[in-house]
Amino acid sequence: MLKNENSPEGRQPTTESEARIFVEDLEVAYATPSGSRVHAVVDFSLDIRRGEFLTLIGPSGCGKTSILKAVGGLITPDGGDVRIGDTIVTGPVPDQVAYVFQDFALFPWRTALGNVEVALELKKVPKAERRERAREALATVGLADAADRHPHELSGGMKQRVAVARALVSNCDVLLLDEPFGALDEQTRLVLGTELLRILESLGKTIIFVTHNLQEAVYLSDRVVAMSARPARIKEIIEVDIPRPRSPDIMVSEAFTEIQRHLFSLLYEESALAMNQP
Ligand SMILES: Nc1ncnc2c1ncn2[C@@H]1O[C@H](COP(=O)(O)OP(=O)(O)O)[C@@H](O)[C@H]1O
Ligand SMILES: [Mg+2]
Repeated sequence: MLKNENSPEGRQPTTESEARIFVEDLEVAYATPSGSRVHAVVDFSLDIRRGEFLTLIGPSGCGKTSILKAVGGLITPDGGDVRIGDTIVTGPVPDQVAYVFQDFALFPWRTALGNVEVALELKKVPKAERRERAREALATVGLADAADRHPHELSGGMKQRVAVARALVSNCDVLLLDEPFGALDEQTRLVLGTELLRILESLGKTIIFVTHNLQEAVYLSDRVVAMSARPARIKEIIEVDIPRPRSPDIMVSEAFTEIQRHLFSLLYEESALAMNQP
């Protein structure tokens, strides 16, 4: 059964047959200054379900960003492939995949509205339609009143919401979120994460999220993939079988803290290994 992406009940449980993104035997290597090659990702395979919120956690430098870049077609894998639906990714896929990066990547000389419109300018959407869709996207993230402000007039949390609006405006059904709250303080992060979840639940996007924050990982995800130290391999896939809609009070429930504790022990082991890598 295909779920209705715009269903008012929001995110529905999905089955394997509804997989949206297929990563098969992915391999990514980079050249080192000495001329040799170092593997960032080796033999990485994973199917991501339609409408799933999937999180990657793992030590710094283990290859998470490389995986996202391969999924979005920003780098060419050295082996294996990524498929979105029926299409093998061979280059950027702006109609299907949108990104949110940790550092917001906003243009300082443009207003919030102008920064959201950029995504549509690249697609040559006519100006009036661009304006309207950008305004709608800003309203979705609660920033309707800040459309004319420049980035220096916005708080960190507001800038991040502009970045989320920019990712939403092109109506891509796949969102890649690479440590999007990394630059925010804990409270903003918690509030923004809760809000983001509410928005995304209502939109039914397929999401791959990278974070170091385990509480955020458990709160937001359908599944969490714990990665090993470089090169990226899957250490364990954890199903977060906590019903949705979720509210912040579940964070103190036993089921929640148990998953969080388990993720911590997985991440701790691998981070200790990663610290001893060159
Ligand atoms: N453009 C690049 N050139 C050379 N090495 C890179 C490049 N990008 C990433 N790497 C290396 O690949 C490994 C994985 O990087 P990355 O995917 O960014 O990891 P993560 O996002 O998990 O921190 C790291 O050791 C990093 O130094
Ligand atoms: Mg990274």
